[in-house]
Amino acid sequence: MQQLLAPIHQFLQFKTPEQWIAFAKQPDNLSVLLIDHCNCELKAAQTAMLLIRKYAVDKDNADELLAWLKPYEDFVYRGIGEGQFNGQHNGLKRVIKANGEHPIGDDLVNKMVLLIKEELHHFQQVLEIMQARDIDYQNLTASRYARGLMKHVKTHEPQTLIDKLICGAYIEARSCERFAALAPHLDEELQRFYISLLRSEARHYQDYLTLAEKLAGKDISDRVRYFGQVEAELVSTVDNEFRFHSGVPQGVARQSEVAQDRSCA
Ligand SMILES: [Fe+2]
Ligand SMILES: [Fe+2]
Repeated sequence: MQQLLAPIHQFLQFKTPEQWIAFAKQPDNLSVLLIDHCNCELKAAQTAMLLIRKYAVDKDNADELLAWLKPYEDFVYRGIGEGQFNGQHNGLKRVIKANGEHPIGDDLVNKMVLLIKEELHHFQQVLEIMQARDIDYQNLTASRYARGLMKHVKTHEPQTLIDKLICGAYIEARSCERFAALAPHLDEELQRFYISLLRSEARHYQDYLTLAEKLAGKDISDRVRYFGQVEAELVSTVDNEFRFHSGVPQGVARQSEVAQDRSCA
């Protein structure tokens, strides 16, 4: 596990604050944690799908991708179904191919289709855990985190996609770091589940970063570092909403401690 986490800890510029972990592990906050985690898994699938649809496939493939996601979106946004997906994360009816018009189209499709499949599976796994614990799915407001990263994305291509891919890498890396940080404080079932997610989330972070580097065709470490600073600011400052990717929970923040914890290593 340490081997898996070492590059993640090096990539992130700030370790999840102890105050966030202390808040997240409280039994009263477990429902929000799980609901938001569940929601994040679907959002991760949607974001990846949006990238493929925007940059890499023709309309037939785009429609096929939308149909793949529809039962999940029907459940979450329209309250349709019981939340039983019976392995539909494997339910793509054909092999999705890039349309050949984008320089990293093939890679984007290959990596993102696998990522979507895994995120949908994670979504189902979290939902099953929630169902077993009588926690109903709810639509929670999104945290400031993803929005806070995305607002720094440039508006001209190819930089727009490069920036979005870097943001994707940070979101995945942070998820991975938080699963590992939280696991020891949770009950045995959740502990096992969160540890089981580490490998795929670590690969997702790596895939996003590799795609960004490939598209740029040059060193992007300055841009990566820039988003790393933005990300560190979002997780290290006081946040009035508690979510999976939120900052220091309001009311428990002790800035002196936060300041002392400025290293991720
Ligand atoms: Fe996931
Ligand atoms: Fe992921």
